[in-house]
Amino acid sequence: MTAIASPKNLWLGRWGFVLAATGSSVGLGNIWKFPYMTGEYGGGAFVLVYLLCIAAIGVPVMMAEIALGRRGRGSPIDAIRRVTRESGRSRWWSGLGWMAMLCGFMILSFYVVVAGWAVSYLWKSVTGGLAAHSVEGMAAIFSANNANPWNLGFWSTLVTLATMAIVGLGVQAGIERSVRWMMPGLVVMLVVMIVYALFSGSFGAGVHFLFAFDPGKLTGQAVLAAMGHAFFTLSLASGAILTYGAYLPADQSIGRTTLMVAICDTLVALMAGLAIFPVIFANGMDPASGPGLIFMSLPLAFQQMPLGGAVETIFFLMLTVAALTSAISMIEATVAWLNESHGLSRVRAAWGVGILLWVVSTLAMLSFNVGADWKLAGRHFFDWLDFLTSRFLMPLGGLGTALLAGFVLRGESLKEELGLPSAVHALWRFAIRYVCPLAIVMVFLDALGALGAAFDWRWLAAVLVLALIAEVAILRRHGRQGG
Ligand code: TRP
Repeated sequence: MTAIASPKNLWLGRWGFVLAATGSSVGLGNIWKFPYMTGEYGGGAFVLVYLLCIAAIGVPVMMAEIALGRRGRGSPIDAIRRVTRESGRSRWWSGLGWMAMLCGFMILSFYVVVAGWAVSYLWKSVTGGLAAHSVEGMAAIFSANNANPWNLGFWSTLVTLATMAIVGLGVQAGIERSVRWMMPGLVVMLVVMIVYALFSGSFGAGVHFLFAFDPGKLTGQAVLAAMGHAFFTLSLASGAILTYGAYLPADQSIGRTTLMVAICDTLVALMAGLAIFPVIFANGMDPASGPGLIFMSLPLAFQQMPLGGAVETIFFLMLTVAALTSAISMIEATVAWLNESHGLSRVRAAWGVGILLWVVSTLAMLSFNVGADWKLAGRHFFDWLDFLTSRFLMPLGGLGTALLAGFVLRGESLKEELGLPSAVHALWRFAIRYVCPLAIVMVFLDALGALGAAFDWRWLAAVLVLALIAEVAILRRHGRQGG
């Protein structure tokens, strides 16, 4: 298959893809969403399921997405159309690309609001607006920041403008350059905060909360939430990773890069947990206080540490940059598609999408003030965007990707693209054909209550073991025929 990507659209350095994909996956999901979800779903049990989902579903699906992107060299819609044509399969699978683009757009619409929180806290930090001495005081600052739609709208608009400006600049100038310094910086900040947390007096309580496994806390909803978050945090099923994969040079290993991105992403999330929960317990805060969790807890910690003011400013700066490198990846798929299939220049495509994004994200922003009562089935618009994408669109997209890569495409096509040693390839194929689809379907059914109280996850394990045996038998038969 001929590569359609022109050289200017390939990552420059050897680390270009890893940096950009890590920049995409490490974001508000790790530092904002992971801690507050862990708090809401009760700690260790949620964390364990989340880690399992990353390893068993996230990593294989990510490899499939990168392989699809590189094989098809284009936006999700175009890339999937090409790979299905190559395998002589229905072009309707490109609907998966449409769904991914829609999902990325919906995520971005609430993501810029949260990123706006980060930027406004950066501003407050510089101008001394975060001076409260109790959890209640910090909570009051957070609510006041949300209450005025002009204020909140200003910050989310700023994020929208910055995102579009960077994406308009293109892959190397815009995306690759901005992530090069930000990832190391973020890790350094987190280490500083963990060291502080070590002396806060409640480090043990934080560690216990994050890692103590209490299966009694695992509901079907919690498992679905953990799975959805595994997709979210790795930027899967929304076009981002697939499109970045389209810019991956042919000689780089998909398996190794995927592992690197997944490990970095997981480490940052766990580090964020270790930095945040000790502070929460030391100050008698409720870990289940929802989306405002980090904005109410961390500024309190900063005030108590030496040089706290400077650390605070740098932290919110890093959070802002982490949010931006993720935001640009969510819109890259759509911009690449408009650019490639409709001949729009990158700049025009970026601004066109940006205007639409501004309208939808403003509606999401209003959920925190004027539109707080505009609820449907108990959720406001902001919550719906999050709920629909994390609980439905991403798991469904992951399921679609797994079926496409595992069953629909000709086996050799992705095998060649992945270029894995044969034992590793067999493992990947087993994961993508059986583990991912079965796990996703069962998590869905369980969350819907369709499996009933008698359902036991050991059944899933048993089915998977049987599938593994069958797969090995089939592979061996093929091997014998082929050889
Ligand atoms: N992974 C990012 C985070 O954790 C969010 C993100 C970036 C994303 N691009 C995405 C989520 C695409 C879903 C789809 O903050």
